[in-house]
Amino acid sequence: MSETVSLNIGDKQVKLPVITGTENEKAIDISKIRAETGYITLDPGFKNTGATTSAITYLDGEEGILRYRGYPIEELAEKSSFLEVAYLLIYGELPTKSEFIDFQNKVSRHTLIHEDMKKFFEGFPTKSHPMGQLSALVGALSAFYPESLNPDATEEEDNLTIIKLLAKFPTIVSWIYKKSLGHPVIYPKNSLDYVGNYLNMTFGQLTEDVEIDPIVSSAMNKLLILHADHEQNCSTSTVRIVGSSNANLFTSISAGISALWGPLHGGANQAVIEMLEKIKEDGGDSEKWLAKAKDKNDPFRLMGFGHRVYKNFDPRAKIIKKACDDILNNLGVKDPVLDIAKKLEETALNDSYFVDRKLYPNVDFYSGIIYRALGFPTDMFTVLFALGRLPGWIAQWKEMRTNKEPIGRPRQIYTGEGKRHFVALKDR
Ligand code: CMC
Repeated sequence: MSETVSLNIGDKQVKLPVITGTENEKAIDISKIRAETGYITLDPGFKNTGATTSAITYLDGEEGILRYRGYPIEELAEKSSFLEVAYLLIYGELPTKSEFIDFQNKVSRHTLIHEDMKKFFEGFPTKSHPMGQLSALVGALSAFYPESLNPDATEEEDNLTIIKLLAKFPTIVSWIYKKSLGHPVIYPKNSLDYVGNYLNMTFGQLTEDVEIDPIVSSAMNKLLILHADHEQNCSTSTVRIVGSSNANLFTSISAGISALWGPLHGGANQAVIEMLEKIKEDGGDSEKWLAKAKDKNDPFRLMGFGHRVYKNFDPRAKIIKKACDDILNNLGVKDPVLDIAKKLEETALNDSYFVDRKLYPNVDFYSGIIYRALGFPTDMFTVLFALGRLPGWIAQWKEMRTNKEPIGRPRQIYTGEGKRHFVALKDR
């Protein structure tokens, strides 16, 4: 017999089904509770609420486990490539060799973006934030590829839209960077692999051939894999909820990009470096800044620390910390903020405020230091997070659509004024 729990409301008793996941996680299905009792549930920030069942990513915050389609993040970061992981997330299985070649060929055939899109790049002020540009440009793809707007598209048609977005995204991201420098854009080179092509469009020059260091491409692959999905976080939930209205893929992802931008989410990687720089300029006193983070009258938070779900350690942070050491050594880069980051981490991990609240370094604590060593400006960091998260957002949008999930529409408890009558302006 399937498990249920009982809820008593007044003299009414309701039996609620229990849903059990693959790893024995449990949820109480409350979908009928309002119809049966008139009550709704309230959970600000959805700290305790599952919005969907999903077969994409498994995360155990207590144990520090992260798996994509069952594969541990540690193995994927070590052995796979970003495009292969994208295939895995979107289609559910690792590709065979021929499936991968076919996928790679299809993606490389769609890397160009409509020439008129360049007018958008020209229109943005040079100093506008890359995330604002990215969100606008990805949304604008819907204007250039109207055949992708059909909510009743076949799986094959949806698949073509997915390929187009995967293919064009690195071109857009690299062009935003080129614009910030005032440099001419570099067109895609389809003989290169996905990450190699992106790096060539970013660091390549029209005037000369630029060799991309294999250390750089390997680091980039690893970072993108680590960011590729993270189940129902703020931006992914945004993508699913926008998509649940049958909005097209481009516009759903554009909304996800906007959600990612905030410093409490993806914007933290930029905020971390800005914070470390500030601490450095202030003399590098980590104790002083930790005291600020602990002071409830001070709005300062230790950026790159804490996570809604990880309450032990963030497995991505572990991999990134090691990668950071390796990459800086291999590239021969000495970055004084790395020393400050390490000191800050060590002090925080021995401080009861952080220990008691289970606050550990998250994925963003060290990623910015790597991006900086690779030559990216600070305001591009969150765009790189978006490039990594793209396959996860696509996979989640596709799953939501395949499962024909209902439109997302939370309820509320109204706490405003009771009924009152309009008073004319002259009498107020
Ligand atoms: N510095 C100082 N105190 C903190 C921090 C921090 N970074 N994070 C949480 N706390 C405190 C918070 O003040 C609260 O204390 P108290 O119980 O005394 O009121 C307690 O810890 C619980 O915090 P919360 O805000 O209720 O936790 P949350 O799950 O709502 O927030 C978070 C999670 C990631 C938004 C938060 O930890 C934070 O603001 N961290 C800094 C921003 C950051 O690094 N974000 C990147 C997240 S990882 C990348 C991604 O997936 O987007």
